[in-house]
Amino acid sequence: MNSNDRADAVAPVARAELFTEERSAEVVAASFAGTPDPRLRQVMTSLVRHLHDFVKDVDPTEEEWAAAIAFLTASGQKCDDVRQELVLLSDVLGVSMLVETINHRSGGTSTESTVLGPFHVVESPPRELGEDIALDGKGDRCLVTGRVTGPEGDPLAGAQVDVWQANEDGFYDVQQPGVQPERNLRGLFVTGDDGEFWFRSIVPRHYPIPVDGPVGQLLQATGRHPNRPAHMHFIVTAPGHRAVTTHLFVEDSPYIDSDAVFGVKDSLVRAFPTVDDPARAKELGLPNPFRSVHFDVRLLRDSSLSGRSVAPPGRDARRGPRPRR
Ligand code: BEZ
Ligand code: FE
Repeated sequence: MNSNDRADAVAPVARAELFTEERSAEVVAASFAGTPDPRLRQVMTSLVRHLHDFVKDVDPTEEEWAAAIAFLTASGQKCDDVRQELVLLSDVLGVSMLVETINHRSGGTSTESTVLGPFHVVESPPRELGEDIALDGKGDRCLVTGRVTGPEGDPLAGAQVDVWQANEDGFYDVQQPGVQPERNLRGLFVTGDDGEFWFRSIVPRHYPIPVDGPVGQLLQATGRHPNRPAHMHFIVTAPGHRAVTTHLFVEDSPYIDSDAVFGVKDSLVRAFPTVDDPARAKELGLPNPFRSVHFDVRLLRDSSLSGRSVAPPGRDARRGPRPRR
């Protein structure tokens, strides 16, 4: 027996399956089979499967694929410490709202949540109940009232109600330094004995999300508008309860049924009726007539949370260096 005969006697080693168009997803997914972290293995396997399905469905030319890579590259390059174009992309694709909704299911037992948005980048100033957050006094004056309760309607005294909104021109204070007073239209309130809160403000206005980047180009190329309907942002927290990050939407606002980031939920839409009552206006320190809105916020107890429905990051964790878009 010579050395060649001995080699022939070795049992053949099974070869890994080679790449083909038909079996591309399976072949690539198999390369992640040894991933030690099971969650990462699951995520990568699913990503490969869906991505390959997408490419087979779209059947891109090489130029089209290069354009897609260039778009993602430009989106990344647009990001800095005050601009996050990739989050904006996730917003306009509805993925931010999908992740938000999946992670805050409550079966209708608490106030629904919606996107945080990019403008909660400064601390809201602590304010007394009833204070006016419209520091420049411009806009349609409005009385905002509400009550924070637990899941059975039990009033939550001492809950924190953090509020911020755009001005009558559709800009947040941080977008117009030197034009709007610092901390204009922001306030951090603490609820009274009955869980109630109230403050004076203005009716917010609809506004466009930032469009001076690749996401703006995408909206333009696809004939989509960039606008969000008028809304006030809230983060409501109370000890022992699950915080909620939400909005109050103005019922008759333009774009109420076509929010560029899909943030509107029916349960969060309210009328802002006009009140014509000179005595009440005088008592409140508002011009007559004025607008008003009522927004009750219901929180789940922490103990009612299970599985993935754990408390969202608290106000402080969220504020951090979260960039503005
Ligand atoms: C906002 O409501 O502030 C917002 C949310 C998502 C994208 C852009 C703005
Ligand atoms: Fe907003």
